[in-house]
Amino acid sequence: MSKKTLLVTGGAGFIGSAVVRQLIKASDYNVVNIDKLTYAGNLESLKEIADNPSYKFEQVDICDKENISRIFNEYQPVGILHLAAESHVDRSIVGPGEFIQTNIIGTYNLLECAREYFNTLTDKSQFKFVHISTDEVFGSLGDTGYFSETTSYDPRSPYSSSKASSDLLVRAWYHTYNLPIVITNCTNNYGPYHFPEKLIPLVINNALAGKNLPIYGKGDNIRDWLYVEDHAKGIILAFEKGVLGESYCIGGHNERTNLEVVQTICRILDELQPKAVGSYLDQITYVTDRAGHDFRYAMDPTKIQTELGWQPEENFDTGIKKTVQWYLDNQEWVQHIMSGEYQNWIQQNYTAR
Ligand code: NAD
Ligand code: DAU
Repeated sequence: MSKKTLLVTGGAGFIGSAVVRQLIKASDYNVVNIDKLTYAGNLESLKEIADNPSYKFEQVDICDKENISRIFNEYQPVGILHLAAESHVDRSIVGPGEFIQTNIIGTYNLLECAREYFNTLTDKSQFKFVHISTDEVFGSLGDTGYFSETTSYDPRSPYSSSKASSDLLVRAWYHTYNLPIVITNCTNNYGPYHFPEKLIPLVINNALAGKNLPIYGKGDNIRDWLYVEDHAKGIILAFEKGVLGESYCIGGHNERTNLEVVQTICRILDELQPKAVGSYLDQITYVTDRAGHDFRYAMDPTKIQTELGWQPEENFDTGIKKTVQWYLDNQEWVQHIMSGEYQNWIQQNYTAR
């Protein structure tokens, strides 16, 4: 019997590429990667599976109704894993328009195309629309407590508001049109192929380049970190076993202050690639805080653990060592990014750094 086909949006991005690599290596599905290739999309992250006959790439904007409909009809997928998004909070503060367009209008367009396609299926029992979302939709925690599936939405940034809006649209298409959906809300990811605008890859690259390691405010904001391959496993599990209409919170109980994260990276680099003089810690610099900076995120992943059997393989200590080593071993990947559009954008928007 021929393999079933899955659509993955945003498969050239950080998490999407991990999902595509896992799916292709497991060899259970044909995968069609739908990606517009914005500044964050990088086909080099898919080099190891690009020639696999089970993999196809479609350079298409998720807002493009004609092409998204064509892709559904042409490939006849059993589901879609929707990861394409504008994902960086700082960018959403500088320019929210793209976030509204891709994260809200793009998701609406995908839902409509999925609904039209779903209605044509004779066997409707297998199709699933999995929407990949974030813990940021829940807002900001104080010193204690955890987010879970029952936490009320309270997004604060243009990014998190756009993701919350898309989550609500996805739920509406389930309740109103019976489109079979599942939502995942995950904590901060880190690992290989992470675009070097986000804290962890930015700090690794700046450290190696002898630049400042910018810490917003006092560095006491807390994030709950998950190794990207563990998130990718959770997404695939949500597709295969998730109950329709449900959401699943994903996180590995790895809370760290930003200062702890940066210090950990510096200590690992001091060991793996010592400087001629001093420590990477000397490059830490405190800079102006992010506007509306959420204080703490922390997730209770009990539901996906007990109901779907998800377990992370990495904890922060093991995952961060692997990640730093990966960046040391993959400087070419980083350099290609740094010479591209990212660099232009940085010059226009981050000249102060
Ligand atoms: P990313 O920025 O690395 O990748 C996003 C991908 O989407 C890129 O390949 C980009 O080219 C593509 N894309 C953007 N706009 C598009 C459009 N209009 N049409 C088609 N493709 C488009 O993002 P990421 O960090 O991999 O995040 C993936 C998803 O996971 C996002 O939905 C994000 O909200 C969610 N998420 C991220 C994290 C995290 O820590 N990074 C945590 C939880 C949830
Ligand atoms: O929580 C999940 C979210 O995690 C995802 O939904 C987002 O797509 C993803 O980008 C991430 O958002 P954050 O804003 O938490 O990630 P970022 O790496 O930008 O920042 C992590 C923390 O580090 C945050 O508290 C801000 C701080 N920071 C960030 C940068 C880029 C700094 O102190 N200095 C920096 O230079």
